[in-house]
Amino acid sequence: MDTNSHQTRQTQDLLLGFNIDHIINIRQARLTPYPDLLETLRAVEAAGADAITLHLREDRRHIQDEDVRLVRQHCTTRMNLEMAATEEMTRIASEILPDDCCIVPEKREELTTEGGLDVIGQFDRIHTATRILHQQGIKVSLFIEPNIEHIRRVPDIGAPVIELHTGTYANLQGTARQRELERLQQATDFADELGLQVNAGHGLDNKNTPDIAAMVKIRELNIGHYLVARSVFVGIEQAVREMKQLMAEARR
Ligand code: PXP
Repeated sequence: MDTNSHQTRQTQDLLLGFNIDHIINIRQARLTPYPDLLETLRAVEAAGADAITLHLREDRRHIQDEDVRLVRQHCTTRMNLEMAATEEMTRIASEILPDDCCIVPEKREELTTEGGLDVIGQFDRIHTATRILHQQGIKVSLFIEPNIEHIRRVPDIGAPVIELHTGTYANLQGTARQRELERLQQATDFADELGLQVNAGHGLDNKNTPDIAAMVKIRELNIGHYLVARSVFVGIEQAVREMKQLMAEARR
């Protein structure tokens, strides 16, 4: 990669993908018509979210198939569908055609996505899903731990983007957190040298986001739970605006 394109990427704004799963969690807890998906979409896009991220899980615990169709019809930014590398999800994504797909590991019993993809052990499965999605013109991202050995295999899989799992970092404190931050920085630099776009997400809030946002090679953060919790006090639009501002300030 030449120095100019490298610099261009370094100076790009940091984008925010708003993860709507936790809004839909509230709706599904009582099977009510509220909070309304489209009202949410309009509000967060108006407030400056750069993408709408949603995870259609195999057990349909929050996002439903109809939600995926509605987001595709009404999203005016970018639609980022998180999905497991299964035949069912690959078929649905090929019908819906989101702009981006983030392939994630999925276990039925987990509370939320735990850990990144096993890019080495599950190589064939992830490679097949990536190839099919790529053929449909979908930009594929792999949700992955900041692990150099795994990142090294991503170009062979054919995905142009990785999303670094920040969950471990978010759960640690003190020097252990600092060490994990360094792992994230090294993983970002390594992926950037391979020509990959680097996104990050999971467990990010107003306290732990600035150190991640300050990593200039990261292109996008996907954040959900904190923003929904914050919106209880300030409203969803303000929660998005605050996060965008915090992200921009971390880059100055
Ligand atoms: N990125 C990925 C791949 C995820 O699975 C999730 C959780 O759904 C997020 C980002 C957002 O995490 P959080 O809700 O903790 O902000």
